[in-house]
Amino acid sequence: SQATIGIQPSDCFPDAEGDSSKVSDSACRSRGCKYDAKADNTPVCSFYDKGYRLKVTKITATDFGFTINLEQVGSAPFGGDISSWVFKFENKGDNIARFTFDTADGKRYKVPKSMNLQDGISLTPNYNFKITNNESFAFQITRKETGTVIWDSDSIVLSDQYLQASTILPSTNVYGLGEQKHESLRHELFKTWPAFSRDQPPSFDDEANLYSVHPFYTCIEDKKGNTHGVLLLNSNAQEYAFSTLPSLTFRTIGGILDFYLFLGPTPENVIQQYTGVIGRPSIPPYWALGFQLCRYGYNNLSNLMDAVQSTAMYEIPHDVQYVDIDHMDTQMIFTVDERNFPDLNTYFKELRENGMRIIYILDPCLIANQTNYAPYDRLKAIDGFIKWENPSDVDDNSKDETGAMLGYVWPRGKTVFPDFMKVKVQEEWKNIIKEYRKSLVFDGLWIDMNEPANFGTNEERPWNWPEDEKPYWSLKCPKNSLEDPPYRTKVGFKWDKKGKQARLSDKTLCMGGIQGDNGQYRHYDVHSLFGWSQTKPTIEAAREATGERSIVISRSTFPGSGQHAGHWLGDNVSQWKDLHRSIIGILEFNMFGIPYIGADICGFFDDTTPELCKRWMQLGAFYTFSRNHNTLGAKPQGPGQMGDEVGKASRDIMRVRYQLLPYLYLLFNEAHLHGSTVIRPLHHEFPTDQTALSVDKQFMWGSCLLISPILEQGQTELVYYLPKGKWYNYFMFALEESEGVQKKVPVDADSMPLLHLRGGCIIIQQEYANNTHFSRQKPLTILAALDKSNNASGSFFWDDGVGIDTIGSGNYYKADIVLADSSMTLTVNYKPEKETSWTSVDFENLTVLGVDATIQSVKLQEPLKNQAKNLSFKQNGKVLNIELSGIGITQYDSFEVMWS
Ligand code: NOJ
Repeated sequence: SQATIGIQPSDCFPDAEGDSSKVSDSACRSRGCKYDAKADNTPVCSFYDKGYRLKVTKITATDFGFTINLEQVGSAPFGGDISSWVFKFENKGDNIARFTFDTADGKRYKVPKSMNLQDGISLTPNYNFKITNNESFAFQITRKETGTVIWDSDSIVLSDQYLQASTILPSTNVYGLGEQKHESLRHELFKTWPAFSRDQPPSFDDEANLYSVHPFYTCIEDKKGNTHGVLLLNSNAQEYAFSTLPSLTFRTIGGILDFYLFLGPTPENVIQQYTGVIGRPSIPPYWALGFQLCRYGYNNLSNLMDAVQSTAMYEIPHDVQYVDIDHMDTQMIFTVDERNFPDLNTYFKELRENGMRIIYILDPCLIANQTNYAPYDRLKAIDGFIKWENPSDVDDNSKDETGAMLGYVWPRGKTVFPDFMKVKVQEEWKNIIKEYRKSLVFDGLWIDMNEPANFGTNEERPWNWPEDEKPYWSLKCPKNSLEDPPYRTKVGFKWDKKGKQARLSDKTLCMGGIQGDNGQYRHYDVHSLFGWSQTKPTIEAAREATGERSIVISRSTFPGSGQHAGHWLGDNVSQWKDLHRSIIGILEFNMFGIPYIGADICGFFDDTTPELCKRWMQLGAFYTFSRNHNTLGAKPQGPGQMGDEVGKASRDIMRVRYQLLPYLYLLFNEAHLHGSTVIRPLHHEFPTDQTALSVDKQFMWGSCLLISPILEQGQTELVYYLPKGKWYNYFMFALEESEGVQKKVPVDADSMPLLHLRGGCIIIQQEYANNTHFSRQKPLTILAALDKSNNASGSFFWDDGVGIDTIGSGNYYKADIVLADSSMTLTVNYKPEKETSWTSVDFENLTVLGVDATIQSVKLQEPLKNQAKNLSFKQNGKVLNIELSGIGITQYDSFEVMWS
């Protein structure tokens, strides 16, 4: 048998990361564990039954399940012994269960996030629970129908600053967990991943924790595609350790262990259940599905105008223009550099008059030592910053008058950090944004640096502190068990260049920071919630300020963030491998309930090249959040600024995107209502297809559109996998039947990504325009692709594209389209009482792919009208094209088209 690789559940020395030379007999025994230098296929230092364990002392049935009292025997490996614990198992519906380890008094820190759980229990749960060991508590949760053990607990350790729970996995098909840079969508089961929000560009450290925290995974259990998902709701520094047993171990250094189990049984069902509990994503405004252009370092208005004009010159559709921190006066939020960006607002108003939209950046740090800087003064007046626990212990350089913790980020001076866990701060933040909008018109907000980032913590000099400005200053954190816990996890840079152990606070605030309305939180516990806590007040402010739905993009996210914001994958590099990585990240964030997600197109750091940028524009045209973004000092990389090849290819592919936007919008409607993913891995549609389980260079929009992009330099051939079924080439309408095989096509410089429409699908297309303001008024086409039984179906969701909660207020339109027996019926299921501008878009064409018969006549039947009308049509092989224009069919009414 093969040696097990990775950190196993029983490993009592996870900090040695599998390197047995770092483990001594005495160090192992001092943790109460068993040392065996010759251990064969088990860790050299392992938990064992004579050491630490949890013993069952009492089992109590409750209304919702049962509780089990546990007593500690032996001592905990990292100290912080807590003698008694309560395990609680709760039935939360047929397919949802929750299990928790907490102390009896319930006083430990818990993530202050509300979860939507059903009240009553299910009498027909699809799972069984059984205790498998009373002396050293262990249990199994089984899927009733198949008997598969989906949680097989192993090596539970509970102490003050070290909590661990492991499971033996039923299969090796595991997905999710974030945010880190993964090289494959399906996990490599020997790696350990840290999670703790961090300003960490993905490309510089291979196994680092990045901006967000998402302790959620899915596992395809068997060949039938049965799938479950697990969330550990915990916000402390943590890690996810895989081993090839296969096993997965969660370790966290605070809070409680609060697990949620979702039984699917399909992968999409799991995500629907998961987002049902954490909160479903909101629908972005329609314009936010358009192409967006940004860069750090336009540096002045004329460079910004160049980028916009060059995009327009190539007629590349362009909806949203950004400004980054360089538009600010010395990088202070809520200010404008009037010298370099004179009349910025006037220029943006002009763009808006032509249908474009504007997004500004906001950082969560406020300069402290400025006179008359209202945002600081106003938040200071309500005691609104993250503070030191005992300001009197801290030197004056490290605090302001309110005892706030000082840091250093982008502005040229020390900054404070608003504590968004405080209700008053949320309110004042909203007021400040609303007032700001009175002088600068924006449509959405981009919140950056909210891990929160702080430069130079515990270092001599922040990297951006001017070298000639002495004395240097940086935030220094004290030494204590919060700042340097007994087990620090793999979080951060584990060791710095000098071999010194890194600290949790590196590049962020000190862990002892005090937060919350009553000072009830330590930054140690709520650090990874900073971005999450900033998000809701920011979107609320943007909505109140604009009177529209608006959008927020946040760099740091946590489960539930998708309700209020989208995300981008952070500071990538203009390099080829980041194309593939972006697909993995985008698929994962869809699983995390944040379907509005993209990566910086053409790459952030370093100069891009025309070929790379062209291919990236072609891939990014299929991100839900499609934004080209660049860093300070790199060569301009707007799609119109890189020559003809990039300009024309960008125009062509963006036109395809815009044509598909009604379908993308429908997918967001479904994500919002049912929690489905928008961009989807192939295995979510084909969970029994063993090949699909590892595909991560292709992805789907919903269940209908398969995207196979070109990801390599100088690529001459595109190899793509086509799951079993009927597919149609989106551009040529040619039928491609597949038995579930890999195929290839030659590609050259002019090639676009391959797009396949799945047999059985009907999608709505719309003519493109220079932005969505105009494209939304263009005529619609119904594109139907027949399956093997000559059927197809689809839906059409529409609203004004900007209204707040149009579904709740009934201000939307929804139609279902069914094609069967040579007849297509569009049934309007819901529409506003009165016809309005956005409900009267014309249908121009109905295109049916895969028609075998030769068609003689086509008729239109409108309900309430007796007379059927003849329609003109063309048939070209298996493609039937029926003209709907000129006869006044708009979205507003149901109709039927029949052919024979
Ligand atoms: C870091 C962000 O990730 C990046 O997108 C942005 O351009 C810079 N901060 C400057 O604001």
